[in-house]
Amino acid sequence: MKIDFTKVNLDNLNSYEEKAMTSFETLMTKGGEGNDFLGWIDRPIDYDKEEFVRIKEAAKRINENSDVLVSIGIGGSYLGIKACDVACDSYFASDRKVKLIYAGNQISGQYLSELLDFLKDKDYSLNVISKSGTTTEPAIAFRFLKEAIEEKYGKEEARKRIYATTDKAKGALKELADAEGYETFVVPDDIGGRFSVISAVGLLPLAAAGIDIDAFMEGFKEGRDIYTEKSFDNPAIKYAAIRNMLHEDGKDIEVLVNYEAKLRYIAEWWKQLFAESEGKDGKGIFPVSVNNTTDLHSVGQMIQDGKRNLFETVIEVENQERDLVINEDKDNLDGLNYLAGKTMSFVNKQAMEGTTIAHVKGNVPNIRIIMDKVDAKEIAKLFYFFEIAVGVSGYMLGVNPFNQPGVEEYKGQMFKLLGKPGYENK
Ligand code: PA5
Repeated sequence: MKIDFTKVNLDNLNSYEEKAMTSFETLMTKGGEGNDFLGWIDRPIDYDKEEFVRIKEAAKRINENSDVLVSIGIGGSYLGIKACDVACDSYFASDRKVKLIYAGNQISGQYLSELLDFLKDKDYSLNVISKSGTTTEPAIAFRFLKEAIEEKYGKEEARKRIYATTDKAKGALKELADAEGYETFVVPDDIGGRFSVISAVGLLPLAAAGIDIDAFMEGFKEGRDIYTEKSFDNPAIKYAAIRNMLHEDGKDIEVLVNYEAKLRYIAEWWKQLFAESEGKDGKGIFPVSVNNTTDLHSVGQMIQDGKRNLFETVIEVENQERDLVINEDKDNLDGLNYLAGKTMSFVNKQAMEGTTIAHVKGNVPNIRIIMDKVDAKEIAKLFYFFEIAVGVSGYMLGVNPFNQPGVEEYKGQMFKLLGKPGYENK
């Protein structure tokens, strides 16, 4: 993975170096706020090997008895899984034995009701994932899905098809799992939700889908080797510094751009990571994403010509597994013969380069992340890059990057409206 910062004016970057390096030091020495949630930093080399084996065994069982694994969770207990799942799967003809389907990531009765119908004639298992064990969305979905799976297979068999990933000791889900005798996996105390894809949260569903979790862990390990280097040449530190430099220059919005639609959930994961880590105390860069070239025909107008308060971070994929060459057409009625002999990826690349030139001319600074290819290992490396960067960037911004107090506010108001005991005076 390479990072290209040459499309940003770096004249002032030197003045951000000291703060960036101090913030990095604070992160690595666990000397800042939120330091009890830094378990993800060393997790690539320091993880529970016994649980890792159990995860593989559970994934094997799921492959033996199921065609679908319903992954029930929201936020950090959802987005990293889906990001890697979608990026590594085929667009149309998946060759996977087990399909991942998601639930508990919203409260749509329409969705859940259709899912319950869909599952009726499928063999399936459930993985209910919640670090706190008390989140409303997955709890409601699990109540319905538990009833359905018990009705289909009987309580005894259903118990063997339900896997719970939660806190090692506390929370309603842990109590329920112990009472029912489900196999449980742990979300470590020192890893916050949005950093938890490296734990059983991500590993079990991804392994069940047939994704190589050894390669996934290897990617995190390589990421750790590269992005924990104490040097201003470390691209994760530099990215954090440049974000803060641009922000102080009036850039309040960061647009994560892809030219390969399989990466669209990587962007969703990234949005949670940066929004929950930085958006507090009246501060933060608002993270948004676009899928190009699709969105060049919609919000592209705004990026080119609207208020000059944004910058872009583009993810380029250098090598795709598959490609197509455009043929010569004897009539050339569509006027495309000038592209004959060119590949689709060549055309896509020129679209990206042309857009970058236009946007930079339009005063939209442009950072480029170049992935060699899209697979579990490269995605893990990308995840780790962004995780180090957000820690450094958050400390530079002067916030605690590892809490999310704002997420609680809507819950209080919602619980009051729903009549949850204890919320009457909210
Ligand atoms: O990053 C976070 O901590 C949150 O977004 C959580 O991941 C999300 O709220 C889900 O929480 P839980 O896993 O406790 O159900």
